[in-house]
Amino acid sequence: MRKIILAALLATFVQGSTAFAEKFPSRPITIVVPFSAGGPSDAMMRILGERMKVSLGEAVLVENTTGAGGSIGVGRVVHAAPDGYTVGFGHLGTHVANGAIYKLGYDLVTDLEPVVLLPSNPMIIVSKNAVPAKTLADLVAWLKSRPVPATAGTAGAGSGSHIAGLAFENATAIKLQYVPYRGTGPALNDLVAGQIDIIVDQLSNSINQVRAGTIRGYAVTDSKRSDQAPEIPTTDEAGLAGFHMTLWSGLWVPKGTPREIVAKLNAAAVDALADPPTRKALENLGLQMPPADQLTPEALGAWQKAEIEKWWPIIKAAHVTVD
Ligand code: MLT
Repeated sequence: MRKIILAALLATFVQGSTAFAEKFPSRPITIVVPFSAGGPSDAMMRILGERMKVSLGEAVLVENTTGAGGSIGVGRVVHAAPDGYTVGFGHLGTHVANGAIYKLGYDLVTDLEPVVLLPSNPMIIVSKNAVPAKTLADLVAWLKSRPVPATAGTAGAGSGSHIAGLAFENATAIKLQYVPYRGTGPALNDLVAGQIDIIVDQLSNSINQVRAGTIRGYAVTDSKRSDQAPEIPTTDEAGLAGFHMTLWSGLWVPKGTPREIVAKLNAAAVDALADPPTRKALENLGLQMPPADQLTPEALGAWQKAEIEKWWPIIKAAHVTVD
């Protein structure tokens, strides 16, 4: 008798969650971007959201929940209901580096479900115009000549711009004084205003200011020049051979979100990445599309784990302290 009741209950539950997944979505979806509005992560997600709402049939709202290198926004997603209505944007910083820096209170792998890999961003080394340097070699010489470390804007400890700064320090044997912001959007404003010296920024964030001549761009951290900035040399060409870094990104949902809902969110993102106007808008920012065979939730999960294995030793060796 007990077994029959349990079976009936289970059947009702499965029926319920499948029916629930079938009706998903039936109200707007919130995508939590853990960095400031107007920055590179926000810009990418707003472009993608515009197209995702078409295939999902419901509004896709971007919410900027910032602070602590993006770990506060990720925590908001970890603790949200696993119903598909709260989705988290993240990248190498928030979903890898932060795990080696902060006492997060959540696990980046087991408390989240990967949804899809998103475009990646080559980094670019930029400075305020007042820096007396024309080439990357000049810049490195100037950074080394300073009595006190130059200031480098970041989106907080563990963010992409911070990890890239650490890698730049390692590659050039310089020391930087990091100045944290809630995103590289506001950091860039201060660079233009000459308040800070440099940023190792995402190309999509700085490219327009470099073009406008309000800041100086020295090199992109990629093996090939960006189609969007063919005038900017690669780090290889600029004398920092092998210093390559592109900031990959993705979407995650809370652990326990039904697989059917993860599949629907994945399909909407994949559709957006394939949509010609959306793709063009992303590529115009210098963003690089993820490989077509890497667009499953499992592919993101596997990639995240591999990056954790690669980056945690490097980041732990840097002894990054957070207040
Ligand atoms: C942002 O959108 O501000 C960036 O992703 C921050 C960063 O990680 O550097």
